[in-house]
Amino acid sequence: MKSTFACSLAAHLADKHTVMLVDTDRGQYTANNWINDRNDAGYKPSIPCITVSSDIDLDKTLKLLDKEYDFVIVDGHGGESRENRTVMMVADAVVTPLAPTQADLDALKPWLDVIEDVRENIENPNRDLKIVAILTQYISQSRIEVAKQYLEHFPDYHLLNNAIKFRSSWQSIPEGKGASEMTQKANAPMRSEFLSVADELLKVIRK
Ligand SMILES: Nc1ncnc2c1ncn2[C@@H]1O[C@H](COP(=O)(O)OP(=O)(O)OP(=O)(O)O)[C@@H](O)[C@H]1O
Ligand SMILES: [Mg+2]
Repeated sequence: MKSTFACSLAAHLADKHTVMLVDTDRGQYTANNWINDRNDAGYKPSIPCITVSSDIDLDKTLKLLDKEYDFVIVDGHGGESRENRTVMMVADAVVTPLAPTQADLDALKPWLDVIEDVRENIENPNRDLKIVAILTQYISQSRIEVAKQYLEHFPDYHLLNNAIKFRSSWQSIPEGKGASEMTQKANAPMRSEFLSVADELLKVIRK
């Protein structure tokens, strides 16, 4: 869901804002591939994207992009890395989409340790970094409750009230399109769920 969400968010925001996607997940470059497919298909608006393969000058690059674009969305891999630390040093928010599975819940603690480490870094702290979690790909309400209870142990995560359900609609989005651009009736539940999450996310980030 991470790349799926980053790309759909980029497409949604690009409707009214200037957006830059930055793909730091060099094992996959999912977001960059999505942009290439978007361009090949001619979907509008087109969205610029760069790939990044090291942390060298990444903070400077992101700061420059931040001046040029309304939103800079970085799609990375989960977990600890120099790239992720550098991105979080200059970011406004770190958004963690997670499924309410035991594996994803278990990953929250070590991930929060990395984030807190960046927030409180001695040389270059980023104390304003917002930490947002989004429950995605849930199948039953009961798992949502389990995940919510688990997340209460980590009050630093701002868990969004809105969540994204596991739906086949997500898997039938053509490469290069975003969830909000799927306007057919069959996709309405996915679309409205996504838009609620995106709206809530923007409110939290802008606070
Ligand atoms: N809510 C959803 N319901 C059903 N399928 C989903 C949902 N969200 C994402 N998917 C599907 O999950 C797959 C993986 O998503 P994605 O490529 O975004 O992975 P990711 O979280 O970035 O993982 P990683 O980068 O660690 O491989 C995609 O095929 C996507 O269509
Ligand atoms: Mg990904």
